[in-house]
Amino acid sequence: MCWNSERFLPEVKPSHLLVRVHAASVNPVDFKIRRGDLRLLTGLTRPRVKLLGFDVAGEVVETGRGVRTFKRGDQIFAMLSVRSGGGYAEYASVPEASAAMKPDCISFEEAASVPLAALTALQALRDKGRVSAGKRVLVNGASGGVGIFAVQTAKASGAVVTGVCSSGNAGLVRSLGADSVIDYTREDFTEKTGAYDIVYDVVANRSFSACKRALAPGGVYITTIPGPATLLQGLLTSLFPGRKAAHVMVKADGRDLGFVRELIEAGRFRTVIDRTFPLSRVAAAHRYCEAGHSRGKNVITIP
Ligand SMILES: NC(=O)c1ccc[n+]([C@@H]2O[C@H](COP(=O)([O-])OP(=O)(O)OC[C@H]3O[C@@H](n4cnc5c(N)ncnc54)[C@H](OP(=O)(O)O)[C@@H]3O)[C@@H](O)[C@H]2O)c1
Repeated sequence: MCWNSERFLPEVKPSHLLVRVHAASVNPVDFKIRRGDLRLLTGLTRPRVKLLGFDVAGEVVETGRGVRTFKRGDQIFAMLSVRSGGGYAEYASVPEASAAMKPDCISFEEAASVPLAALTALQALRDKGRVSAGKRVLVNGASGGVGIFAVQTAKASGAVVTGVCSSGNAGLVRSLGADSVIDYTREDFTEKTGAYDIVYDVVANRSFSACKRALAPGGVYITTIPGPATLLQGLLTSLFPGRKAAHVMVKADGRDLGFVRELIEAGRFRTVIDRTFPLSRVAAAHRYCEAGHSRGKNVITIP
């Protein structure tokens, strides 16, 4: 990252906004990069990401000379690229094309919990699953950061939604719109036959092969963590009719985020915050998220 040496602020590139960050959030990608799990994505020898944090909500304090959509004082939220990051800070450099106006009806903390997880849900179900009214969608990991938005995205599209979670989270997942809930400690959804048009494996603890039976003819399996097998199956199944394997790689996109903002303002989409940590306790926030049982999202507040 480049720094303005006098003020120790990120350099404002022509197409970027300088944002005073009020809140960021924790995503599994943060601790995976910290642990060095994603070197293929983030740089084999020297990590490109100098500062973690891929969601921000805050106020624009300066705009690059090419910026047209935002002005100083605007309250925005944004996903930052997983190749650059920079959200765990008082100021962040945010590409104009990745930002959207923050919904007026929610706080900075709530807004910061939305971008990366909601875009992962939207881009998977819309672009890979071609979700539409009447489709039967199963979300595996429905109570986590991406899962809460996947259930709502599918529901907003008119799909019939089944959420997979533990019994303690069944009420939450139903309150987000799931028509039915499967408790993964008691029942294995992969044992059903032809029951779903889309299986969205958010926790990615299943495989295309394991889920094939549960998919209807022409159904799609989508994972958030593609291994070599899924990549190969994705390629092969795209060549022939039948059940498909696919994966999602979330992209920062201000237009998609604008669509999410409209859903929030229309009362059709809401966030769920599990815990809030000050920036000084970011290590504790990572430990909590890393345990793998977050109920919705965890937020970092920047004093
Ligand atoms: N490819 C991409 O672009 C992309 C983007 C975003 C995220 N991801 C990946 O997607 C994964 C999920 O992300 P996230 O933010 O949703 O994580 P998260 O918030 O940490 O997920 C936690 C949730 O997973 C549930 N869970 C744990 N074990 C489960 C099981 N066996 N069956 C069903 N649910 C289970 C937990 O529910 P209980 O407490 O009830 O167990 C908890 O609610 C991560 O690996 C992340 O790196 C990929």
